[in-house]
Amino acid sequence: MGFIGYFLVLVVSSVVSCTKFDELFQSNWAPDHLLIEGDYANLTLDSLSGCGYESKKKYLFGEATVQIKLVEGDSAGIVTAFYMSSEGPNHDELDFEFLGNVSGELYLVQTNVYTNGTGNREQRHTLWFDPTADFHSYSLFWNRRSIVFLVDRIPIRVFENKEESGVGYPRSQAMGVRGSIWNADDWATQGGRIKTNWSDAPFVATFRDFEIKACELEPETEDAEAKCGPTRQFWWDKPSLRVLSRHKAHQLKWVRARHLVYDYCKDTARFIELPKECV
Ligand SMILES: *[C@@H]1O[C@H](CO)[C@@H](O)[C@H](O)[C@H]1NC(C)=O
Ligand SMILES: *[C@@H]1O[C@H](CO)[C@@H](O)[C@H](O)[C@H]1NC(C)=O
Ligand SMILES: *[C@@H]1O[C@H](CO)[C@@H](O)[C@H](O)[C@H]1NC(C)=O
Ligand SMILES: *[C@@H]1O[C@H](CO)[C@@H](O)[C@H](O)[C@H]1NC(C)=O
Repeated sequence: MGFIGYFLVLVVSSVVSCTKFDELFQSNWAPDHLLIEGDYANLTLDSLSGCGYESKKKYLFGEATVQIKLVEGDSAGIVTAFYMSSEGPNHDELDFEFLGNVSGELYLVQTNVYTNGTGNREQRHTLWFDPTADFHSYSLFWNRRSIVFLVDRIPIRVFENKEESGVGYPRSQAMGVRGSIWNADDWATQGGRIKTNWSDAPFVATFRDFEIKACELEPETEDAEAKCGPTRQFWWDKPSLRVLSRHKAHQLKWVRARHLVYDYCKDTARFIELPKECV
């Protein structure tokens, strides 16, 4: 066993991806609630605080993926987020927000897109698996044509560039990759009716296997458009990625039919006139 055991350890450890969490990220809120162990990060919420992290670099186009195992058991009132955002009042932002629930009831995944400081573009989905039982991957794909939200590589939402119709599109501000957990029991679960049960704290969501394949910029960049522009021919600018493949389009249709529970584009009670991109 001795020799073979040693050999297996060597093989296994060379396969495991070795990006250490703290090579890519740093805490941006309550460092004592962010527990890091190699490429794992536990985001902890208790009655004192939630916590968050952000990437050291900023990115303009590309893809960010993470695997998350969400808070188990009673997670009512708790929101865990994986998102990208630029800075300032006119910021751009792409969000995955996981809205917790009482034990045994479904989490909802809320996605949103902010352009130039304005969001209000929520969609909500249920998932086809229990996101607390195991790790699943969540990706934000972003090029000049569209933004795609993927769950285990299955697209759940596409936000297309409709600048010709006067709709803002995030394409000039570099964004950081971020994650957080916080108490949102004023709105998150069943419309805010169910509050966080602090006797179950601390609440822990585990993030791992970060993968950022994107055009990387230092925080105070330079000419972002030149560095990340279409002439550089990055993989996300490939013609084949201008629209979803037939297979992916089919998957999106399936998700929308089975798992979409709220779409701002259908919310005529909320918007007197539906946002332009919905028409
Ligand atoms: C992170 O959380 C998991 C699951 O709750 C636990 O098994 C692990 O020991 C935690 N790691 C750290 C560094 O806190
Ligand atoms: C972004 O919003 C600001 C006002 O908050 C406005 O002055 C500016 O023109 C907008 N930019 C774009 C690209 O729409
Ligand atoms: C929580 O469970 C209730 C009851 O099944 C459901 O209506 C709701 O959409 C679920 N999710 C959230 C975040 O409230
Ligand atoms: C809060 O959690 C505790 C321990 O799990 C449980 O005994 C109690 O009934 C819960 N309270 C509510 C309001 O659900």
